[in-house]
Amino acid sequence: MKIIEAKDYQDLSKIAADYIIKKVCTFPELKLGLATGGTPIGIYSNLITDHQKNGTSYQGVTTFNLDEYVGLSGDHPKSYRYYMNHNLFDHIDIQKNNTFVPLGDVDDIQRECTTYENLLQEHGGIDLQILGIGNNGHVGFNEPGTSFDSETHVVQLTPSTRKANARFFSSLEEVPTQAITMGISTIMQSKEILLLISGEQKKDALNRLLTGNIDKNFPASVLKNHPNVTIIADTAAFAGSKVHS
Ligand code: F6R
Repeated sequence: MKIIEAKDYQDLSKIAADYIIKKVCTFPELKLGLATGGTPIGIYSNLITDHQKNGTSYQGVTTFNLDEYVGLSGDHPKSYRYYMNHNLFDHIDIQKNNTFVPLGDVDDIQRECTTYENLLQEHGGIDLQILGIGNNGHVGFNEPGTSFDSETHVVQLTPSTRKANARFFSSLEEVPTQAITMGISTIMQSKEILLLISGEQKKDALNRLLTGNIDKNFPASVLKNHPNVTIIADTAAFAGSKVHS
């Protein structure tokens, strides 16, 4: 794994955004895997500014999001589809029908898992996947214990993940209990992965990732088996790392 240390969140967001912009300019038909949550907001804001200033075009780009809450429709303000439209897609020239987020409000959620997995295969897989990490090591919503062979599936969110995400809702009770997520095997099939880690609250997760064994109880550790992963972490996140001075 290649490691880049950013000074702070702003720096991390700029470095990651520049990396994506360069990829989009080099491969206008890029298949880009996207994440939600707090970490990528600054990246998306940099992509929008660059699009407005420099005209970087996303006309040929196709995106696939990692996950969606079960039970929320795309127009629900807390859904990840809404988040993506609001924080990125509505402000760049991407074709909306080339943006894919799993559907959380369908009658047959198992069928949606298969449909989403097939969709990824039909498009030839993801070229560059953006990932965040949970304090418990989750990637996507693959919680500790998830099989490394998993494909897109429905998960029961752990209390710690629901608590961490309660900041986006009015109360903990409002946070959905289930999500649909790309599996670990799905994520590992991406040709390249960019993992973003920011803030003091992620220092234990980063330390465990850098120093620990590959272990399904810490899902992000599987990334050590991937041939092309870059971690961009800021100084605050590195604070707990014994390997880093
Ligand atoms: C989001 C996702 C999650 C987040 C992770 C970190 O689509 O799949 O794995 O990346 O929970 O979230 P933040 O960035 O809010 O700390």
